[in-house]
Amino acid sequence: MAGYITDDTKKVTTRRLLEMKQNGEKISMLTAYDYTTALIVDGAGVDVILVGDSAANVMAGHATTVPMTLDAMIMYAASVVRGVKRALVVVDMPFGTYTNPVDGVRNAVRVMQETGCDALKLEGGSEISETVRRIIEAGIPVMGHLGLTPQSIHKFGTYAVRAKEEAEARKLLDDARLLQETGCFSIVLEKIPAALSAQAVAGLSIPVIGIGAGMCDGQVLVVDDMLGKNKGFKPKFLRTYADLHAVMTDAIGRYVADVKSGDFPNGKEQY
Ligand code: KIV
Repeated sequence: MAGYITDDTKKVTTRRLLEMKQNGEKISMLTAYDYTTALIVDGAGVDVILVGDSAANVMAGHATTVPMTLDAMIMYAASVVRGVKRALVVVDMPFGTYTNPVDGVRNAVRVMQETGCDALKLEGGSEISETVRRIIEAGIPVMGHLGLTPQSIHKFGTYAVRAKEEAEARKLLDDARLLQETGCFSIVLEKIPAALSAQAVAGLSIPVIGIGAGMCDGQVLVVDDMLGKNKGFKPKFLRTYADLHAVMTDAIGRYVADVKSGDFPNGKEQY
């Protein structure tokens, strides 16, 4: 594995991400929710680590991201920040914590102060642009998130591809431009047609990061999904790079067998 972390490792900044877009360098982004995974993801050279509210699904077993609380998000994010030297750490603002500018700024300041993260991500377009503007005015970098925005699942009623119809596609491009004008340093586009993402990538000066959105300035995946930990989850857009479900099941099964047979611990594995 390349040695991305050295004594003079420089942090990835929002400015660096902008340069990467300008130079045509692709941006790699993955989620992490705990210290040990953050160490590995950072050490492997990922540019942006997202402490996503997908932790509600993959860490806590909820069906949606709606139950994620601010306190839980802060606990996950602070753990990740302690493991990261290089990557830009972005934290999701949970459902219901930025429904108006006053709450949004108060909660955003709390996440920044209590986790030490570098930036926040908020889901939505024109409906939250005033909140986004106020958070950015408070000195906090914001990443937007459009397309399939999982916090609105009860409004959508489905996790199907978004913005296939012209009106929704037009609103998405308008929202993306608005978020850029409001000062967002980057935008995530989730589960939309690749042709629509291409228009956003071409029309925006800030980096567009895709998930199920075709070729963008960068890509993001949920780390547990790309490592193949969750056997049942295999959407079309997901590429898996390992079969951790099989690796872990095999390792744990052998441990159980060794304990049961009395093979573990042996003479060298005790004091
Ligand atoms: O919460 C999350 O993991 C996300 C990504 C899917 C972009 O928002």
